[in-house]
Amino acid sequence: MCGITAYCGQQEALSFLMQGLSKLEYRGYDSAGITTLENNQLLTIKCKGRLKNLEEKIKNYQVHGSIGIGHTRWATHGIPSNLNSHPHNNSHDTISLVHNGIIENYRQLKKELIENGYTFQSDTDSEVIVQLLDYYYDGELLEATQKVLKRIEGSYALCIISTLEPDKIIVAKKDSPLIIGKATNAYVVASDIPALLEYTKDVYFLDDLEVAMIKKDHISFYNQQGKRIEKTLTTVPYDLEAAKKDGYDTFMLKEIHEQPYVINETLRGRIFNEQIILDELKDINFQQFNKVYFVACGTAYHASLCGSQVLQRVTQLPVISMVASEFRYNDPLIDQHTLAIFVSQSGETADTLAALKLAKQKQATTIAIANVLGSTISRDSDYVLYTCAGPEIAVASTKAYTTQLVLLILLAYYIAQRLNKEVDFQLIHQLNSIPQYVEKILKDEKIFEKYAYMLKDLHDAYFIGRNLDYASVLEGALKLKEVSYVHADAYVAGELKHGPIALIEEGSVVIAVATQPHIAAKTISNIQETIARGAHVILFTTHNENIKHVENIYYLPQIAPTLQAILVAIPLQLIAYYTACIKGCDVDKPRNLAKSVTVE
Ligand code: F6R
Repeated sequence: MCGITAYCGQQEALSFLMQGLSKLEYRGYDSAGITTLENNQLLTIKCKGRLKNLEEKIKNYQVHGSIGIGHTRWATHGIPSNLNSHPHNNSHDTISLVHNGIIENYRQLKKELIENGYTFQSDTDSEVIVQLLDYYYDGELLEATQKVLKRIEGSYALCIISTLEPDKIIVAKKDSPLIIGKATNAYVVASDIPALLEYTKDVYFLDDLEVAMIKKDHISFYNQQGKRIEKTLTTVPYDLEAAKKDGYDTFMLKEIHEQPYVINETLRGRIFNEQIILDELKDINFQQFNKVYFVACGTAYHASLCGSQVLQRVTQLPVISMVASEFRYNDPLIDQHTLAIFVSQSGETADTLAALKLAKQKQATTIAIANVLGSTISRDSDYVLYTCAGPEIAVASTKAYTTQLVLLILLAYYIAQRLNKEVDFQLIHQLNSIPQYVEKILKDEKIFEKYAYMLKDLHDAYFIGRNLDYASVLEGALKLKEVSYVHADAYVAGELKHGPIALIEEGSVVIAVATQPHIAAKTISNIQETIARGAHVILFTTHNENIKHVENIYYLPQIAPTLQAILVAIPLQLIAYYTACIKGCDVDKPRNLAKSVTVE
């Protein structure tokens, strides 16, 4: 995800801009750039690739300005390229801007601007903002910004400088992070606190729809109506390491809590007027396929298992979901009429990459669902869709999983749409509300911590579910195993009586998920069979009829069954997390595991 830095002070801006960008590298990026004001001219230097490429390029210039803006870009609209990199300048080269976020109505605004004689250099949505600033500029940059903000829809963190008013930076935000620091003789701005900490711990948190006008020795804040407001300076107690964890004890907990935000990011710009928009796939003729393969490992495989069932349901295409390490040794039935979908957070998992290679040799059309931009899987597949989870640092995958689920559900409905199948609009509306539901479930964290006390001394735990809930319990069991080292197995609930029930005894713990209305009652009957043999049950359900003797029931919000896997993931992650914490395990770095599995 993009990173922003800005400096307005007595020193040269360059060193803050560059150190700040390097602190934001963890967010992931594909290009970088800066603009400084040099003798009342804009000096913009930008390029595709890593920050060291930008550093090399900067060596060819004299960069001494004391006002500047910087950016690392994670491509959303337009491929990674020099031209699509930020900052973007207006045609007259008087205004320069960096933007993080997505402008949803940029096509319409671009059309209007072209009709008014504007020309565009890049394919980005961001360039529309700077041209619109030019259009509205009438002697007051602040006023022009306020007019522009009324026209743009979507998310933004913006920093704007101009030769027309060379004493200031205008910053604004909505749904994208932006923090302003008050340093000695300077104001510094960044997308995240670690980028500021070398300069200051005193910060202003800009709220959504607020604007700030920063001068070297003065800052003023404005609300959405353009009225002056006061903001208080907060001193952040963090050291650099803690700041990266945003005050959470571990990256895993931080990433669990980031899910409302990153799910929103993954949805952003992809639903419009009851239509799912995945422009990246617009050139695919979906009519040509007679089957679909889903291939992935571990958590990504569990997301695939859910995505594949939804896809089959809504498109009626035969779907096969396989673990990557099995796929290539299993003589898969692939030809030019096969669509093969590869899911990987890192995009570097050796088994998944080998499977992709095989599918391509056999002439399948390949789509990658990846989180890391520029990763091997995204470069080697025919098409790529990115989850917007941001960097996932904890080894156990949490936010990558739920964003994969979101994107796979979007993909299933997108393919259905392209095949002219009937699409459930209500479900598409509900997708937009998922971040709020996740937020609500996170508020019940204490309940899940209490459940963790039931598991902490166990050697084994049993997870059961049917249908889409089976994918959820597989993931729940994996999370518990990997971070808390409690052995856990997941079973299709109907299979219990075919063997595993022999293991259930007095004191066993069974975690059951029953969110699919057509089959929930059956899972609940299976629960009764385990209770009769002495098990303690934790049940996650939306079903409320005839549930007897279950000690612990957590009712999930009543939304479309297809979306429940996203919601139930949250309590299952938190149960695993707290079990590991209570046992004193190193949750972020479980033994024997690596974040990116680049060997077979
Ligand atoms: C579990 C976990 C792993 C990964 C698997 C695939 O929490 O993180 O099971 O999901 O190694 O990794 P990616 O998605 O990077 O291909």
